[in-house]
Amino acid sequence: MFRVLFVLSLLGSALIRRVNSHEESGEWSCNSGLETQLVAEFRPGIVTLDGRTDDWKDIDGFEFALLPALDPDAENEYKGGKMTVKTLHDGHDIYFMLQVDGDYVYSKGDNNKCPSVALMFQVGEEASYHNMGGCKEGVSSCNNKTCKGHEVDIMHFSIGNAIPGRLYGGNPVDNGEGSGDDRFGHLVDLYAWTPHCRYFDGKGPSGNDSRSQNDWKGSWWHSSFTVQSGFVEEDSPYAKDGQKGTYFFEFSRPLRTLDRLQQDAQFTIGETSKMSAAFWYPPEGLPWHGSGHFSVSCDWISLDVTLGSSMLTTGTSSSGNVSGVFAVLLSVVSLCASVFVGYWVIFRPKRIPFTPMENL
Ligand SMILES: *[C@@H]1O[C@H](CO)[C@@H](O)[C@H](O)[C@H]1NC(C)=O
Ligand SMILES: *[C@@H]1O[C@H](CO)[C@@H](O)[C@H](O)[C@H]1NC(C)=O
Repeated sequence: MFRVLFVLSLLGSALIRRVNSHEESGEWSCNSGLETQLVAEFRPGIVTLDGRTDDWKDIDGFEFALLPALDPDAENEYKGGKMTVKTLHDGHDIYFMLQVDGDYVYSKGDNNKCPSVALMFQVGEEASYHNMGGCKEGVSSCNNKTCKGHEVDIMHFSIGNAIPGRLYGGNPVDNGEGSGDDRFGHLVDLYAWTPHCRYFDGKGPSGNDSRSQNDWKGSWWHSSFTVQSGFVEEDSPYAKDGQKGTYFFEFSRPLRTLDRLQQDAQFTIGETSKMSAAFWYPPEGLPWHGSGHFSVSCDWISLDVTLGSSMLTTGTSSSGNVSGVFAVLLSVVSLCASVFVGYWVIFRPKRIPFTPMENL
């Protein structure tokens, strides 16, 4: 908790500094100066992907101010509130929970008049947060050769056709076509080298790859919903417009995917990845624009996929205690085992009959 507060206070001061320098130069600058470290602990079996987030209550997360992604000026912060991001893994899949306050708005079938979220991950080693990979090539010349090393992986969920609490993302129809698209709920798997060179997984300027797929699954919810058993499409808009509350988004993806083309980030237990999260909200009922999104930071934030939970949530001293207890337990167990083995060697019944070699 103190670590979170400390980092948040750093965030505050860093933002103030950055905004000043931003106004001076007029160019893109980001002195985020933070060591925001999201941690995906090993916590198997606690999260259900249903958009509801009570199951995350014991998981620590980070709270981020949401600033406009293209012009991160604190004056234009998303007024609805902060975004909380939590993550964990179960050894096979990684999970993300995004939570942000917002009055309820929903226009069925119109994605740009509904809130929307995205996650972005670094794939290529030279891929910058700024400009979605930061390749210098234009739309006509960007491809997997000219922009090699600048790949970013993106998951984007637009909820205009997604029933709350239902699962969207990878589905047999789109995966069958080797595409990261999701024609049912628009929870899509993309990659990009720049904001203008952005494609569904498996599609691209150098040709398509039939083995690609949408590896994400996810769901959304709003705290103003009163129905708990399950919505169908006819229930849209699911709640009254303008109700105060909180939007919840849950996602999961396998740590590793079948990608062969640098279109998916690959997560490794024990290693750190770079990511970001973005949020779109229709301003005063008007549709949002693709570039009009808020972001949790003006640079990558790091994401640790860790081996175990005991090392992380607790401080160093208590993790020392835990490993101490384990060491004692282990030595007691091994002492018992060696006594037993000794007993077995000396006193075991000698039932194995002697077989002379010539009888074999
Ligand atoms: C790749 O897929 C896209 C979208 O499905 C299609 O428009 C394009 O013609 C395909 N390209 C090739 C080379 O097959
Ligand atoms: C570029 O993409 C095409 C089509 O997906 C693929 O066949 C080719 O191997 C890729 N080239 C490189 C250098 O990654």
